Amino acid sequence: TKRIILDVDTGIDDALAIGYAVHSPELELLGITTTFGNISVPEATRNSLVLLEKLNKEIPVYQGADKPYARELFKPYSRHIHGEDGIGGCYSTSPMGSAAEGHAADFIIQQARKYSRELTVIAVGPLTNLALALDRCPELPELLDGLIIMGGAVTVPGNVKPTAEANIYADPEAAEKVLTAGFNLTLVGLDVTMQTLLPQSDVDAWRGQGELAEFMADMTDFYMQAYKNFKPGIAGCALHDPLAVGVAIDPGFVTTKPMHIAVDTGDSPTVGRTYEVPAAGVAAGAARAGKTIDVCLEVDAERFLQHFLGRIL
Ligand code: BDR
Ligand code: CA
Repeated sequence: TKRIILDVDTGIDDALAIGYAVHSPELELLGITTTFGNISVPEATRNSLVLLEKLNKEIPVYQGADKPYARELFKPYSRHIHGEDGIGGCYSTSPMGSAAEGHAADFIIQQARKYSRELTVIAVGPLTNLALALDRCPELPELLDGLIIMGGAVTVPGNVKPTAEANIYADPEAAEKVLTAGFNLTLVGLDVTMQTLLPQSDVDAWRGQGELAEFMADMTDFYMQAYKNFKPGIAGCALHDPLAVGVAIDPGFVTTKPMHIAVDTGDSPTVGRTYEVPAAGVAAGAARAGKTIDVCLEVDAERFLQHFLGRIL
C-alpha cells in the first residue's frame, strides 16, 4: 500500500476524492490536511470531518492555512459551485469529532520524516500548506516519495479565469514555490480533469443504495447543476480531485510529459497561469536543478470513471 496524506479544501469533488481514497485498499490514508479554497478553512475542516463520519472512518484531520501564502484572500470562495456550506447544502449536524492538534504543514513534515521516501501527498486545493511546509522544512522534496497536485491548466483554458485554474489562482505564490521546489511531482490539471466527467445517469444510479449513497448523490447533484450552468450541454461534472487520487492508485490512468512549468504571480494580468517553459529558457528560480514535473496530458477517462464508480459507495 501507498501511504498518503490528502490536502483538501472540501468542496464536493474533494469530498468525492476522500470517499474514493478511503475505499481504496491500495492507499493508506494517514491523515487529511485542510486549507481555505472552495470555502473557508474551518468549513473545509468541518466538511472533512462530516465526510469521515459518513464513511465511518477514523482518520485525523489537521487544519491548515486560512489565507494565501503571500497575500490576503484573493479569489472569492466557490460557494456557487460547491454550495453555501461547501457540500451542496448537505451539511446538517456538527460532526462529533474535531480537528487534531497541530498545523497541517507540521503534520505533513512530521509524517514525511517518519516515512522518509515512503509518503505521497495528494494536494487538491490551493498549495498554501505545502508552501508553509517548505519554509519549515526545505528538504521536504527529498523526503516525499511523490507529490500529486490537482491544479493548473497547461494546454487548455482555465476555469476561474481564461488563463487560470482555481487552485493555482487562489494562491499563485504558493503554487510557484511548490511547483519549482524539486518535488517528484505529477500535475493533474484541467488538461485531463475536464475530460473526466461523471454523467448524471451514474449519480442517479446511486439512489436507493443506502445512507452514504444518498448523501453522495445529493451533494453531487448540486455540483452537477453548477457544471450545467457553467457549461451548458456538458456531459457531466468534472472529477478533478478524484482523478488525482486515481493517479496515486494507478498512474496508468494518465499519460504524462516531463516539463518545466512556471506560474504567473504578483500583479501580472495573467496571475495564476501555469505554462511550459522550454528547457533552454528556464530562468533562475523557475525550476530548481533543472528538475521537470510530469504534466498529465491524456487520460483514459472511461477506465478511470469505472474504477471510481466501483469504489465511491
Ligand atoms: C479545483 O478547484 C476546486 O474548486 C475543486 O475542488 C478542484 O480542486 C478545480 O479547478
Ligand atoms: Ca479541491
